[in-house]
Amino acid sequence: MKFIHMSDIHLGTPGMLVEGIDPQARLARAFGHIAEHHADAVRLVITGDLTHWADPEAYAALKQALRVLPMPVRLMVGNHDDRAVFLDHFPDHPSDEGGFINHAEDLPEGRFIYCDTVQTATHAGHFCSARRGWLQGQLEGCQTAYVFFHHNPLHLGDPSTDMLSLNDADQAPLRALLKAHRDKIAHIFFGHVHEPLSGTLAGIPFSGVPSTVHQVIPNLSPSMFSGMAPLEPSYRVVLLRGEDVAVHQIPFAWEGEVIWHGNDWNDWAKEACGVSREN
Ligand SMILES: [Fe+2]
Repeated sequence: MKFIHMSDIHLGTPGMLVEGIDPQARLARAFGHIAEHHADAVRLVITGDLTHWADPEAYAALKQALRVLPMPVRLMVGNHDDRAVFLDHFPDHPSDEGGFINHAEDLPEGRFIYCDTVQTATHAGHFCSARRGWLQGQLEGCQTAYVFFHHNPLHLGDPSTDMLSLNDADQAPLRALLKAHRDKIAHIFFGHVHEPLSGTLAGIPFSGVPSTVHQVIPNLSPSMFSGMAPLEPSYRVVLLRGEDVAVHQIPFAWEGEVIWHGNDWNDWAKEACGVSREN
């Protein structure tokens, strides 16, 4: 099974730039790339920061842009989003009983669990006891789970971005909950950090996807400042292969040269590479 993980598309009003980049043009390019190369994906999951300032026009633009994609799309909110404005434009989108944009679905490979980690008026993530209760129910009711967050649910050792991770009070109980179910959680996916990330949380593999717009350069010294740069944007193609999960990063906007090379042993011989034995 193939699905797409994308995050932090930061749409604005038409023509608005974010960190010098046009997010709508970037999204159109990413969606065009997906439609051309990965139309067989069964889902596209966008893990939040759908917009930059929660402008109604930005959600309207997203709704329009999604029409080019053949697969079902699962949307999550991030710290730059607004639940009410989001729901104005996606009124049929599922929510939980508490009004959070928590939802889940069962696919043949397991339960996909989409968690709402947003708290109003802060860039840090929250996952209160009500939300943890909802997640616990979802985990208890399945055999295999793939869990999606906007915020990174753990500190990553970068003080400037750790300020914006899931808040300290919620991290420990969420970790305990995830740890109690780690035998069935195949992978955790998140966005928010705008970096290509991988690692483990209590033994559970995780990956964080870059933004389709601006990226963050890791700053591992004591600092409150994050460096941002227009590095290569990407989305991820995730392949669920039996017991295994493979995560591929797709640089959809790359305009430089691509050299196609055979991978047979003789294709890598010096002569085949244009290098003579005398050199
Ligand atoms: Fe973001």
